[in-house]
Amino acid sequence: MKNNTAWWFRITVAFFMVVVLMEIYIESGDKPAFIAYPTMMFGFMALILLLLLAIAFIVQAIENVLFNTLDEEAKLRYLAEKNKKWEWTWGKKMYAKMLGSKPIESEEEIILDHNYDGIRELDNNLPPWWVYLFYASIVFGVVYLLRFHVFNDYDQKLEYEQEVAAAQLEIEEYKKTAKGLVDASTVELLTDAGDLNAGKGIFESNCVACHMADGGGGIGPNLTDQNWILGGGIKNVFNTISEGGRDGKGMIAWKQNLKPAEIAQVASYVLSFQGTTPANPKAPEGDIWADPNAPAQKAPVETDVPEIAIDSASVTMN
Ligand code: HEC
Repeated sequence: MKNNTAWWFRITVAFFMVVVLMEIYIESGDKPAFIAYPTMMFGFMALILLLLLAIAFIVQAIENVLFNTLDEEAKLRYLAEKNKKWEWTWGKKMYAKMLGSKPIESEEEIILDHNYDGIRELDNNLPPWWVYLFYASIVFGVVYLLRFHVFNDYDQKLEYEQEVAAAQLEIEEYKKTAKGLVDASTVELLTDAGDLNAGKGIFESNCVACHMADGGGGIGPNLTDQNWILGGGIKNVFNTISEGGRDGKGMIAWKQNLKPAEIAQVASYVLSFQGTTPANPKAPEGDIWADPNAPAQKAPVETDVPEIAIDSASVTMN
């Protein structure tokens, strides 16, 4: 028996390894397996413990029997071997090798002859751990030089662009799942009856004073015609409601009071007025709005401009 770690120590280590393995491999959802299946786990662990104890006991017994078959001299040798403290010889040897320093007894061999007031110098070798790191950095440097400066593999700019593109994809994915996360650039016209009803509720409690319940207009413009002061279409209407109208006209920025999802609902409801005939329609204001996404137009330029104009107005309003 070369391995002299105490039997109880071996058992404890083995026991905890089994516990950890079971935690890793047993599918128990968010809860630890011990809490999910207590009786099964404790029963099983008790069995394991019993087995480990039995094995330790048997090993001990065999050792005893074998020991008694030895002659006296062999018994003494065996005991001496067994009492030697267990050491991590490989690790120690490696450590000494990596330090590469001379033992103090043989320092005479490497002492240099200059002597300043009794202070002398040892000509030690460079420590091998340092030398190996140095070699490794040379290899790294050569590979790096060839890869990035000779064969021009990717550079930082490309790396950055790739990361940004990947992040953009992630953002798109996230936006798809998060319904409340709409803004003027991502909002789509909602057609779901539930959304339109919610929009109607919001409109009736916030907007009728100026726009009338049927959208015919009063203080605010008529919302049923095709003319828009601040641009039609879901994105512009969302933006107007969110950021408010032109300075001093009376249409406040509703983003203070309404969540983005609510603005999307009320904007969709406002657009459902299109083509209806209100009781007292206000005369059309603004221009007839054509959808810039309709085929023949140059879309981005046309939508961007009014949005920016409204943004700057709302900044002064808020
Ligand atoms: C205090 C009166 C008032 C209230 C309340 C009000 N608005 Fe307005 N709204 C206006 C005025 C005035 C304008 C014109 C703004 C401008 O000319 O810049 C306007 C413009 C609009 C426009 C743009 C119309 C266009 O022709 O471009 C939309 C859309 C709109 N309001 C929706 C709403 C919604 C939705 C609500 C409720 C959440 C609401 N408004 C509440 C006064 C109001």
